[in-house]
Amino acid sequence: MVLEKFIVTQMKVTKICCIGAGYVGGPTMAVIAKKNPNITVTVVDVNQDRIDAWNNADVNNLPIYEPGLAQIVKETRGKNLFFSTEIDKTIDESEMIFISVNTPTKTYGKGKGMAADLKYVELCARNIAKVATTNKIVVEKSTLPVRTAQAIKSILDNTGSDVKFSILSNPEFLAEGTAIQDLINPDRVLIGGEFEDAIEVLANIYASWVPQDKILRTNVWSSELSKLTANAFLAQRISSINAISELCEKTEANVNEVAKAIGMDSRIGPKFLKASVGFGGSCFQKDILNLVYIARSYNLHEVADYWEQVTLFNDHQKRRFADHIVNTLYNTVSGKKIGFLGWAFKKDTNDTRESAAIYVADYLLNEQASISVYDPKVPAKKMQSDLNYLNTRSVSENEQQVTVFSNPYEALKDTHAVAILTEWDEFKSYDWNKIYVNMKKPAFIFDGRNLLDKTEMIKIGFEYSSIGQ
Ligand code: UDX
Ligand code: ADP
Repeated sequence: MVLEKFIVTQMKVTKICCIGAGYVGGPTMAVIAKKNPNITVTVVDVNQDRIDAWNNADVNNLPIYEPGLAQIVKETRGKNLFFSTEIDKTIDESEMIFISVNTPTKTYGKGKGMAADLKYVELCARNIAKVATTNKIVVEKSTLPVRTAQAIKSILDNTGSDVKFSILSNPEFLAEGTAIQDLINPDRVLIGGEFEDAIEVLANIYASWVPQDKILRTNVWSSELSKLTANAFLAQRISSINAISELCEKTEANVNEVAKAIGMDSRIGPKFLKASVGFGGSCFQKDILNLVYIARSYNLHEVADYWEQVTLFNDHQKRRFADHIVNTLYNTVSGKKIGFLGWAFKKDTNDTRESAAIYVADYLLNEQASISVYDPKVPAKKMQSDLNYLNTRSVSENEQQVTVFSNPYEALKDTHAVAILTEWDEFKSYDWNKIYVNMKKPAFIFDGRNLLDKTEMIKIGFEYSSIGQ
Protein backbone atom coordinates (compact mmCIF):
# COMPACT_ATOMS: atom_id res chain seq x y z
CA MET A 1 0.00 0.00 0.00
CA VAL A 2 1.31 3.45 -0.90
CA LEU A 3 0.71 6.04 1.83
CA GLU A 4 -0.30 9.54 0.93
CA LYS A 5 2.06 11.94 2.58
CA PHE A 6 5.74 12.08 3.47
CA ILE A 7 6.26 15.78 4.06
CA VAL A 8 3.18 17.99 4.33
CA THR A 9 4.37 20.60 1.86
CA GLN A 10 5.38 19.31 -1.55
CA MET A 11 9.14 19.25 -1.75
CA LYS A 12 10.73 21.22 -4.58
CA VAL A 13 13.93 19.69 -5.82
CA THR A 14 16.58 22.20 -6.86
CA LYS A 15 19.64 20.14 -5.98
CA ILE A 16 20.33 16.44 -6.45
CA CYS A 17 23.29 14.56 -5.00
CA CYS A 18 24.30 11.19 -6.44
CA ILE A 19 26.67 9.09 -4.34
CA GLY A 20 28.78 6.91 -6.66
CA ALA A 21 30.30 8.13 -9.94
CA GLY A 22 30.31 4.76 -11.71
CA TYR A 23 28.76 3.14 -14.76
CA VAL A 24 25.27 3.79 -13.40
CA GLY A 25 25.62 7.08 -11.48
CA GLY A 26 27.66 8.92 -14.13
CA PRO A 27 25.48 8.42 -17.24
CA THR A 28 22.16 8.56 -15.32
CA MET A 29 22.98 11.88 -13.68
CA ALA A 30 24.32 13.31 -16.93
CA VAL A 31 20.96 12.63 -18.59
CA ILE A 32 18.92 13.89 -15.59
CA ALA A 33 21.00 17.11 -15.65
CA LYS A 34 20.57 17.55 -19.40
CA LYS A 35 16.83 17.07 -19.22
CA ASN A 36 16.36 19.23 -16.09
CA PRO A 37 18.43 22.39 -16.62
CA ASN A 38 16.88 23.97 -13.50
CA ILE A 39 18.19 21.27 -11.18
CA THR A 40 21.82 21.23 -10.05
CA VAL A 41 23.12 17.67 -10.09
CA THR A 42 26.33 16.82 -8.23
CA VAL A 43 27.86 13.38 -8.46
CA VAL A 44 30.13 12.58 -5.52
CA ASP A 45 32.54 9.72 -4.95
CA VAL A 46 35.19 8.69 -2.43
CA ASN A 47 37.53 7.92 -5.29
CA GLN A 48 39.46 11.13 -6.06
CA ASP A 49 41.00 9.71 -9.25
CA ARG A 50 37.57 8.87 -10.61
CA ILE A 51 36.24 12.35 -9.86
CA ASP A 52 39.34 13.92 -11.43
CA ALA A 53 38.75 11.82 -14.53
CA TRP A 54 35.10 12.96 -14.72
CA ASN A 55 36.42 16.54 -14.53
CA ASN A 56 39.00 15.90 -17.25
CA ALA A 57 39.06 18.83 -19.67
CA ASP A 58 39.11 16.31 -22.52
CA VAL A 59 35.63 14.76 -22.46
CA ASN A 60 36.94 11.91 -24.60
CA ASN A 61 38.90 10.72 -21.58
CA LEU A 62 36.12 10.23 -19.05
CA PRO A 63 36.50 7.25 -16.67
CA ILE A 64 33.83 5.30 -18.50
CA TYR A 65 33.23 4.92 -22.19
CA GLU A 66 29.65 5.10 -23.41
CA PRO A 67 28.58 6.22 -26.88
CA GLY A 68 26.99 9.69 -26.60
CA LEU A 69 28.08 10.33 -23.01
CA ALA A 70 30.98 12.69 -23.77
CA GLN A 71 28.69 15.04 -25.71
CA ILE A 72 26.17 15.29 -22.85
CA VAL A 73 28.92 15.87 -20.28
CA LYS A 74 30.36 18.56 -22.52
CA GLU A 75 26.98 20.32 -22.67
CA THR A 76 26.14 20.14 -18.96
CA ARG A 77 29.35 19.94 -16.93
CA GLY A 78 30.08 23.17 -15.07
CA LYS A 79 26.52 24.40 -15.80
CA ASN A 80 24.23 22.12 -13.78
CA LEU A 81 26.31 18.92 -13.63
CA PHE A 82 29.24 18.70 -11.22
CA PHE A 83 31.61 15.97 -10.03
CA SER A 84 33.08 16.31 -6.56
CA THR A 85 34.55 14.54 -3.55
CA GLU A 86 32.80 16.90 -1.14
CA ILE A 87 30.32 14.25 -0.10
CA ASP A 88 28.98 15.59 3.23
CA LYS A 89 28.41 19.13 2.00
CA THR A 90 26.67 17.97 -1.17
CA ILE A 91 24.41 15.59 0.75
CA ASP A 92 23.25 18.28 3.12
CA GLU A 93 22.67 20.86 0.39
CA SER A 94 20.49 18.51 -1.69
CA GLU A 95 16.81 17.67 -1.31
CA MET A 96 17.20 14.36 -3.12
CA ILE A 97 20.04 11.86 -2.79
CA PHE A 98 20.61 8.93 -5.11
CA ILE A 99 22.63 6.01 -3.78
CA SER A 100 24.46 4.55 -6.75
CA VAL A 101 27.38 2.74 -5.22
CA ASN A 102 28.60 -0.73 -6.09
CA THR A 103 26.99 -3.81 -4.52
CA PRO A 104 29.39 -6.63 -5.42
CA THR A 105 28.86 -10.27 -4.45
CA LYS A 106 30.17 -10.88 -0.93
CA THR A 107 33.68 -12.34 -0.82
CA TYR A 108 33.66 -13.18 2.89
CA GLY A 109 31.51 -14.48 5.75
CA LYS A 110 27.81 -15.27 5.61
CA GLY A 111 26.50 -15.46 2.04
CA LYS A 112 30.05 -15.48 0.61
CA GLY A 113 29.94 -15.89 -3.18
CA MET A 114 26.15 -15.44 -3.28
CA ALA A 115 24.70 -12.50 -1.34
CA ALA A 116 25.19 -8.85 -2.29
CA ASP A 117 27.68 -6.98 -0.15
CA LEU A 118 25.71 -4.04 1.17
CA LYS A 119 28.57 -2.49 3.09
CA TYR A 120 28.90 0.48 0.72
CA VAL A 121 25.17 1.14 0.71
CA GLU A 122 25.05 0.99 4.48
CA LEU A 123 28.00 3.38 4.74
CA CYS A 124 26.13 5.82 2.50
CA ALA A 125 22.99 5.57 4.63
CA ARG A 126 24.99 6.17 7.80
CA ASN A 127 26.70 9.12 6.19
CA ILE A 128 23.39 10.65 5.09
CA ALA A 129 22.00 10.12 8.58
CA LYS A 130 25.04 11.82 10.10
CA VAL A 131 25.17 14.96 7.96
CA ALA A 132 21.56 15.70 6.93
CA THR A 133 20.01 18.72 8.63
CA THR A 134 16.90 18.98 6.41
CA ASN A 135 14.33 16.44 5.13
CA LYS A 136 15.54 14.28 2.24
CA ILE A 137 14.25 11.88 -0.34
CA VAL A 138 16.75 9.02 -0.60
CA VAL A 139 16.65 7.02 -3.82
CA GLU A 140 18.12 3.52 -4.15
CA LYS A 141 19.62 3.33 -7.62
CA SER A 142 22.06 0.47 -7.04
CA THR A 143 20.60 -3.00 -7.60
CA LEU A 144 19.77 -4.26 -4.16
CA PRO A 145 18.32 -7.36 -2.59
CA VAL A 146 14.63 -7.22 -1.74
CA ARG A 147 13.96 -5.42 1.55
CA THR A 148 17.19 -3.38 1.52
CA ALA A 149 15.10 -0.22 1.68
CA GLN A 150 13.98 -1.44 5.10
CA ALA A 151 17.60 -1.53 6.29
CA ILE A 152 18.30 1.94 4.91
CA LYS A 153 15.11 3.23 6.50
CA SER A 154 15.94 1.85 9.90
CA ILE A 155 19.38 3.52 9.82
CA LEU A 156 17.90 6.84 8.69
CA ASP A 157 14.99 6.74 11.13
CA ASN A 158 17.22 6.25 14.11
CA THR A 159 19.36 9.34 13.95
CA GLY A 160 17.76 10.93 16.99
CA SER A 161 17.11 14.16 15.03
CA ASP A 162 13.87 15.59 13.59
CA VAL A 163 15.05 15.17 10.02
CA LYS A 164 12.67 13.00 7.97
CA PHE A 165 13.63 10.66 5.16
CA SER A 166 11.56 9.01 2.50
CA ILE A 167 13.17 6.03 0.76
CA LEU A 168 12.39 5.28 -2.87
CA SER A 169 13.52 2.37 -4.99
CA ASN A 170 14.27 3.45 -8.55
CA PRO A 171 16.24 0.62 -10.17
CA GLU A 172 18.23 1.38 -13.29
CA PHE A 173 17.54 -0.74 -16.37
CA LEU A 174 20.18 0.76 -18.67
CA ALA A 175 22.53 -1.63 -20.44
CA GLU A 176 26.14 -0.62 -20.88
CA GLY A 177 27.14 0.32 -24.40
CA THR A 178 23.62 1.69 -25.01
CA ALA A 179 23.24 3.54 -21.68
CA ILE A 180 22.51 6.98 -23.10
CA GLN A 181 19.97 5.68 -25.58
CA ASP A 182 18.35 3.56 -22.83
CA LEU A 183 18.18 6.55 -20.47
CA ILE A 184 16.80 8.96 -23.05
CA ASN A 185 14.23 6.52 -24.35
CA PRO A 186 13.54 4.01 -21.55
CA ASP A 187 11.05 1.13 -21.89
CA ARG A 188 9.86 2.16 -18.44
CA VAL A 189 10.95 3.99 -15.31
CA LEU A 190 10.11 2.17 -12.10
CA ILE A 191 9.59 3.99 -8.82
CA GLY A 192 8.77 2.07 -5.67
CA GLY A 193 7.92 3.97 -2.52
CA GLU A 194 5.98 4.22 0.69
CA PHE A 195 4.65 7.77 0.22
CA GLU A 196 2.77 8.97 -2.83
CA ASP A 197 4.05 12.55 -2.65
CA ALA A 198 7.69 11.47 -2.51
CA ILE A 199 7.11 9.17 -5.50
CA GLU A 200 5.59 12.08 -7.44
CA VAL A 201 8.57 14.34 -6.71
CA LEU A 202 10.86 11.82 -8.42
CA ALA A 203 8.31 11.04 -11.15
CA ASN A 204 8.22 14.76 -12.02
CA ILE A 205 11.97 14.78 -12.61
CA TYR A 206 11.65 11.90 -15.11
CA ALA A 207 8.51 13.44 -16.60
CA SER A 208 10.75 16.16 -18.10
CA TRP A 209 11.40 13.67 -20.89
CA VAL A 210 9.67 10.34 -20.18
CA PRO A 211 5.93 9.96 -21.02
CA GLN A 212 3.82 9.51 -17.86
CA ASP A 213 2.48 6.12 -18.98
CA LYS A 214 6.02 4.76 -18.93
CA ILE A 215 6.56 5.80 -15.30
CA LEU A 216 5.41 2.92 -13.12
CA ARG A 217 4.64 3.40 -9.45
CA THR A 218 4.78 0.34 -7.17
CA ASN A 219 5.50 -0.51 -3.60
CA VAL A 220 9.18 -0.63 -2.62
CA TRP A 221 9.46 -4.39 -2.48
CA SER A 222 7.94 -4.97 -5.91
CA SER A 223 10.33 -2.43 -7.34
CA GLU A 224 13.38 -4.06 -5.77
CA LEU A 225 12.30 -7.55 -6.83
CA SER A 226 11.42 -6.42 -10.38
CA LYS A 227 14.99 -5.41 -11.03
CA LEU A 228 16.40 -8.77 -9.95
CA THR A 229 13.69 -10.57 -11.89
CA ALA A 230 14.27 -8.60 -15.10
CA ASN A 231 17.97 -9.42 -15.04
CA ALA A 232 17.30 -13.07 -14.16
CA PHE A 233 14.87 -13.42 -17.10
CA LEU A 234 17.30 -11.78 -19.54
CA ALA A 235 20.19 -13.97 -18.39
CA GLN A 236 17.96 -17.03 -18.54
CA ARG A 237 17.27 -16.40 -22.23
CA ILE A 238 21.00 -16.34 -22.94
CA SER A 239 21.68 -19.54 -21.01
CA SER A 240 18.72 -21.16 -22.74
CA ILE A 241 19.98 -20.37 -26.24
CA ASN A 242 23.53 -21.28 -25.20
CA ALA A 243 22.28 -24.67 -24.01
CA ILE A 244 20.66 -25.18 -27.41
CA SER A 245 23.93 -24.09 -29.08
CA GLU A 246 25.70 -27.08 -27.56
CA LEU A 247 23.03 -29.39 -28.93
CA CYS A 248 23.31 -27.69 -32.34
CA GLU A 249 27.01 -28.48 -32.42
CA LYS A 250 26.23 -32.19 -32.07
CA THR A 251 23.52 -32.16 -34.71
CA GLU A 252 23.21 -30.49 -38.09
CA ALA A 253 21.22 -27.59 -36.63
CA ASN A 254 22.47 -23.99 -36.70
CA VAL A 255 21.75 -21.94 -33.56
CA ASN A 256 21.33 -18.69 -35.53
CA GLU A 257 18.61 -20.29 -37.61
CA VAL A 258 16.95 -21.76 -34.53
CA ALA A 259 17.08 -18.37 -32.75
CA LYS A 260 15.54 -16.64 -35.76
CA ALA A 261 12.81 -19.24 -36.08
CA ILE A 262 11.78 -19.13 -32.42
CA GLY A 263 12.24 -15.34 -32.16
CA MET A 264 9.62 -14.77 -34.85
CA ASP A 265 7.05 -16.18 -32.46
CA SER A 266 5.69 -12.93 -31.04
CA ARG A 267 5.32 -14.59 -27.64
CA ILE A 268 9.07 -15.28 -27.54
CA GLY A 269 10.42 -12.22 -29.42
CA PRO A 270 13.78 -11.84 -31.18
CA LYS A 271 15.92 -10.08 -28.58
CA PHE A 272 18.51 -11.63 -26.26
CA LEU A 273 18.77 -14.84 -28.24
CA LYS A 274 22.35 -14.47 -29.43
CA ALA A 275 24.37 -17.53 -28.54
CA SER A 276 27.76 -16.53 -27.18
CA VAL A 277 30.79 -17.57 -25.18
CA GLY A 278 28.72 -16.63 -22.12
CA PHE A 279 27.24 -13.53 -20.56
CA GLY A 280 29.31 -11.19 -18.44
CA GLY A 281 28.81 -7.80 -16.84
CA SER A 282 28.35 -6.55 -13.34
CA CYS A 283 24.65 -7.43 -13.10
CA PHE A 284 23.49 -10.80 -14.40
CA GLN A 285 25.59 -13.17 -12.35
CA LYS A 286 25.45 -11.00 -9.23
CA ASP A 287 21.71 -10.51 -9.37
CA ILE A 288 20.93 -14.17 -9.98
CA LEU A 289 23.20 -15.26 -7.14
CA ASN A 290 21.41 -12.74 -5.02
CA LEU A 291 18.02 -14.10 -6.01
CA VAL A 292 19.23 -17.63 -5.27
CA TYR A 293 20.51 -16.54 -1.87
CA ILE A 294 17.25 -14.82 -0.97
CA ALA A 295 15.20 -17.85 -2.09
CA ARG A 296 17.38 -20.19 -0.02
CA SER A 297 17.11 -17.93 2.99
CA TYR A 298 13.31 -18.47 2.82
CA ASN A 299 13.90 -22.24 2.39
CA LEU A 300 12.64 -22.07 -1.22
CA HIS A 301 15.18 -24.57 -2.49
CA GLU A 302 13.38 -25.44 -5.73
CA VAL A 303 13.19 -21.74 -6.62
CA ALA A 304 16.87 -21.31 -5.79
CA ASP A 305 17.96 -24.38 -7.78
CA TYR A 306 15.94 -23.27 -10.79
CA TRP A 307 17.66 -19.88 -11.07
CA GLU A 308 21.09 -21.12 -10.02
CA GLN A 309 21.17 -23.30 -13.11
CA VAL A 310 21.27 -20.15 -15.28
CA THR A 311 24.67 -19.15 -13.87
CA LEU A 312 25.96 -22.72 -13.66
CA PHE A 313 25.24 -23.12 -17.35
CA ASN A 314 26.98 -19.83 -18.10
CA ASP A 315 30.12 -21.10 -16.34
CA HIS A 316 29.86 -24.28 -18.38
CA GLN A 317 29.60 -22.31 -21.64
CA LYS A 318 32.80 -20.33 -20.93
CA ARG A 319 34.68 -23.48 -19.94
CA ARG A 320 33.38 -25.38 -22.96
CA PHE A 321 34.65 -22.64 -25.30
CA ALA A 322 38.14 -22.72 -23.74
CA ASP A 323 38.15 -26.52 -23.72
CA HIS A 324 37.24 -26.59 -27.40
CA ILE A 325 40.26 -24.39 -28.19
CA VAL A 326 42.59 -26.80 -26.38
CA ASN A 327 41.02 -29.90 -27.95
CA THR A 328 41.15 -28.45 -31.44
CA LEU A 329 44.77 -27.37 -31.11
CA TYR A 330 45.75 -31.06 -30.85
CA ASN A 331 45.03 -31.26 -27.10
CA THR A 332 47.67 -28.78 -26.04
CA VAL A 333 48.16 -25.04 -26.09
CA SER A 334 51.34 -25.17 -24.05
CA GLY A 335 53.81 -22.68 -25.54
CA LYS A 336 51.29 -21.69 -28.23
CA LYS A 337 50.20 -18.13 -28.85
CA ILE A 338 46.46 -17.40 -28.87
CA GLY A 339 45.32 -13.99 -30.09
CA PHE A 340 42.32 -12.51 -28.26
CA LEU A 341 40.08 -10.00 -30.00
CA GLY A 342 38.13 -8.25 -27.26
CA TRP A 343 38.32 -8.17 -23.49
CA ALA A 344 35.25 -6.07 -22.53
CA PHE A 345 32.13 -8.01 -21.49
CA LYS A 346 30.28 -6.63 -24.54
CA LYS A 347 30.90 -4.13 -27.32
CA ASP A 348 30.88 -0.35 -26.86
CA THR A 349 32.01 -0.35 -23.25
CA ASN A 350 35.37 -0.37 -21.45
CA ASP A 351 33.83 -2.38 -18.60
CA THR A 352 35.33 -5.83 -18.03
CA ARG A 353 33.46 -6.99 -14.93
CA GLU A 354 32.73 -10.74 -15.19
CA SER A 355 33.79 -10.69 -18.84
CA ALA A 356 33.98 -14.14 -20.42
CA ALA A 357 37.41 -13.16 -21.76
CA ILE A 358 38.89 -13.20 -18.25
CA TYR A 359 37.76 -16.76 -17.56
CA VAL A 360 38.70 -18.11 -20.98
CA ALA A 361 42.13 -16.48 -20.64
CA ASP A 362 42.58 -17.92 -17.16
CA TYR A 363 41.80 -21.42 -18.41
CA LEU A 364 44.22 -21.15 -21.35
CA LEU A 365 46.97 -19.62 -19.20
CA ASN A 366 46.67 -22.58 -16.84
CA GLU A 367 47.24 -24.74 -19.91
CA GLN A 368 50.48 -22.75 -20.40
CA ALA A 369 49.37 -20.81 -23.47
CA SER A 370 50.59 -17.30 -24.10
CA ILE A 371 47.95 -14.76 -24.99
CA SER A 372 48.16 -11.58 -27.03
CA VAL A 373 45.19 -9.27 -26.67
CA TYR A 374 43.66 -6.37 -28.50
CA ASP A 375 40.58 -4.49 -27.28
CA PRO A 376 39.62 -1.08 -28.66
CA LYS A 377 38.77 0.41 -25.24
CA VAL A 378 40.19 -1.66 -22.40
CA PRO A 379 43.65 -0.59 -21.16
CA ALA A 380 46.40 -3.17 -20.56
CA LYS A 381 46.54 -2.35 -16.85
CA LYS A 382 42.89 -3.34 -16.46
CA MET A 383 43.40 -6.70 -18.22
CA GLN A 384 46.32 -7.55 -15.97
CA SER A 385 44.43 -6.53 -12.84
CA ASP A 386 41.42 -8.66 -13.90
CA LEU A 387 43.71 -11.70 -14.12
CA ASN A 388 45.60 -10.87 -10.94
CA TYR A 389 42.28 -10.57 -9.10
CA LEU A 390 41.59 -14.27 -9.80
CA ASN A 391 44.76 -15.07 -7.89
CA THR A 392 45.44 -18.15 -10.02
CA ARG A 393 48.98 -17.16 -10.99
CA SER A 394 51.56 -14.66 -9.78
CA VAL A 395 51.56 -11.11 -11.12
CA SER A 396 54.82 -11.74 -12.95
CA GLU A 397 53.48 -14.93 -14.56
CA ASN A 398 50.47 -13.02 -15.87
CA GLU A 399 52.76 -10.29 -17.18
CA GLN A 400 54.96 -12.84 -18.92
CA GLN A 401 52.14 -14.85 -20.47
CA VAL A 402 49.83 -12.00 -21.52
CA THR A 403 50.87 -9.25 -23.94
CA VAL A 404 48.54 -6.41 -24.79
CA PHE A 405 48.68 -4.61 -28.14
CA SER A 406 47.19 -1.37 -29.38
CA ASN A 407 47.11 -2.69 -32.95
CA PRO A 408 45.01 -5.77 -33.78
CA TYR A 409 47.27 -6.92 -36.63
CA GLU A 410 50.28 -6.89 -34.31
CA ALA A 411 48.31 -8.82 -31.68
CA LEU A 412 47.39 -11.56 -34.14
CA LYS A 413 50.80 -11.90 -35.82
CA ASP A 414 52.38 -15.35 -35.43
CA THR A 415 49.45 -16.69 -33.42
CA HIS A 416 48.23 -20.29 -33.68
CA ALA A 417 44.63 -19.23 -33.21
CA VAL A 418 42.36 -16.19 -32.91
CA ALA A 419 39.64 -16.18 -30.26
CA ILE A 420 36.87 -13.58 -30.56
CA LEU A 421 35.59 -12.71 -27.10
CA THR A 422 33.73 -9.42 -27.64
CA GLU A 423 31.46 -8.48 -30.55
CA TRP A 424 33.13 -5.14 -31.41
CA ASP A 425 31.90 -4.09 -34.88
CA GLU A 426 35.37 -3.16 -36.10
CA PHE A 427 36.50 -6.82 -35.99
CA LYS A 428 34.20 -7.58 -38.91
CA SER A 429 35.91 -5.15 -41.25
CA TYR A 430 39.50 -6.23 -40.60
CA ASP A 431 41.64 -7.44 -43.49
CA TRP A 432 41.28 -11.13 -42.66
CA ASN A 433 43.43 -12.13 -45.64
CA LYS A 434 46.31 -10.18 -44.13
CA ILE A 435 45.68 -11.70 -40.70
CA TYR A 436 45.65 -15.20 -42.24
CA VAL A 437 48.96 -14.69 -44.04
CA ASN A 438 50.68 -13.62 -40.82
CA MET A 439 49.41 -16.50 -38.67
CA LYS A 440 50.86 -19.97 -38.08
CA LYS A 441 49.20 -22.72 -40.15
CA PRO A 442 46.77 -24.26 -39.86
CA ALA A 443 45.24 -20.94 -38.77
CA PHE A 444 42.27 -21.34 -36.43
CA ILE A 445 39.48 -18.91 -35.56
CA PHE A 446 37.29 -19.54 -32.51
CA ASP A 447 34.45 -17.09 -32.88
CA GLY A 448 32.81 -16.78 -29.47
CA ARG A 449 30.33 -14.20 -30.78
CA ASN A 450 29.35 -15.66 -34.19
CA LEU A 451 30.59 -12.36 -35.56
CA LEU A 452 32.42 -13.29 -38.75
CA ASP A 453 31.14 -14.75 -42.00
CA LYS A 454 31.87 -18.46 -41.79
CA THR A 455 31.92 -19.09 -45.57
CA GLU A 456 34.27 -16.17 -46.18
CA MET A 457 36.68 -17.28 -43.43
CA ILE A 458 36.81 -20.84 -44.75
CA LYS A 459 37.41 -19.48 -48.26
CA ILE A 460 40.42 -17.51 -46.99
CA GLY A 461 41.81 -20.73 -45.56
CA PHE A 462 40.94 -20.52 -41.86
CA GLU A 463 39.85 -23.47 -39.76
CA TYR A 464 36.77 -21.67 -38.42
CA SER A 465 34.54 -22.67 -35.54
CA SER A 466 31.84 -20.69 -33.80
CA ILE A 467 29.06 -21.23 -31.29
CA GLY A 468 26.24 -23.59 -32.14
CA GLN A 469 26.93 -24.10 -35.83
C1 UDX B 1 22.06 -5.76 -18.09
C2 UDX B 1 20.59 -5.51 -18.41
O1 UDX B 1 20.37 -5.69 -19.82
C3 UDX B 1 20.18 -4.11 -17.97
O2 UDX B 1 18.80 -3.90 -18.17
C4 UDX B 1 20.52 -3.94 -16.49
O3 UDX B 1 20.22 -2.63 -16.06
C5 UDX B 1 21.98 -4.25 -16.22
O4 UDX B 1 22.31 -5.56 -16.72
P1 UDX B 1 24.38 -5.08 -19.21
O5 UDX B 1 24.96 -6.14 -18.33
O6 UDX B 1 25.00 -3.72 -19.19
O7 UDX B 1 22.83 -4.86 -18.87
O8 UDX B 1 24.41 -5.58 -20.73
P2 UDX B 1 23.54 -6.63 -21.58
O9 UDX B 1 23.31 -6.05 -22.92
O10 UDX B 1 22.36 -7.09 -20.85
O11 UDX B 1 24.55 -7.85 -21.79
C6 UDX B 1 24.97 -8.69 -20.72
C7 UDX B 1 25.81 -9.83 -21.25
O12 UDX B 1 25.03 -10.75 -22.00
C8 UDX B 1 26.95 -9.39 -22.18
O13 UDX B 1 28.11 -10.14 -21.89
C9 UDX B 1 26.41 -9.72 -23.55
O14 UDX B 1 27.42 -9.94 -24.49
C10 UDX B 1 25.64 -11.00 -23.26
N1 UDX B 1 24.57 -11.29 -24.25
C11 UDX B 1 23.52 -10.42 -24.40
C12 UDX B 1 24.59 -12.48 -24.97
O15 UDX B 1 25.51 -13.28 -24.83
N2 UDX B 1 23.57 -12.75 -25.86
C13 UDX B 1 22.52 -11.90 -26.03
O16 UDX B 1 21.62 -12.21 -26.84
C14 UDX B 1 22.49 -10.68 -25.28
P1 ADP C 1 28.02 0.70 -10.90
O1 ADP C 1 28.22 -0.14 -12.13
O2 ADP C 1 26.94 0.14 -10.00
O3 ADP C 1 27.83 2.14 -11.19
P2 ADP C 1 30.78 1.22 -10.12
O4 ADP C 1 31.73 0.32 -9.39
O5 ADP C 1 31.07 1.59 -11.54
O6 ADP C 1 29.34 0.54 -10.00
O7 ADP C 1 30.61 2.58 -9.32
C1 ADP C 1 30.33 2.69 -7.95
C2 ADP C 1 31.08 3.90 -7.39
O8 ADP C 1 30.65 4.10 -6.04
C3 ADP C 1 32.61 3.75 -7.33
O9 ADP C 1 33.22 4.81 -8.06
C4 ADP C 1 32.94 3.84 -5.82
O10 ADP C 1 34.14 4.54 -5.55
C5 ADP C 1 31.74 4.63 -5.28
N1 ADP C 1 31.50 4.43 -3.85
C6 ADP C 1 31.42 3.26 -3.17
N2 ADP C 1 31.13 3.48 -1.86
C7 ADP C 1 31.04 4.83 -1.70
C8 ADP C 1 30.74 5.68 -0.58
N3 ADP C 1 30.48 5.18 0.63
N4 ADP C 1 30.73 7.02 -0.79
C9 ADP C 1 30.96 7.53 -2.03
N5 ADP C 1 31.23 6.78 -3.11
C10 ADP C 1 31.27 5.44 -2.96
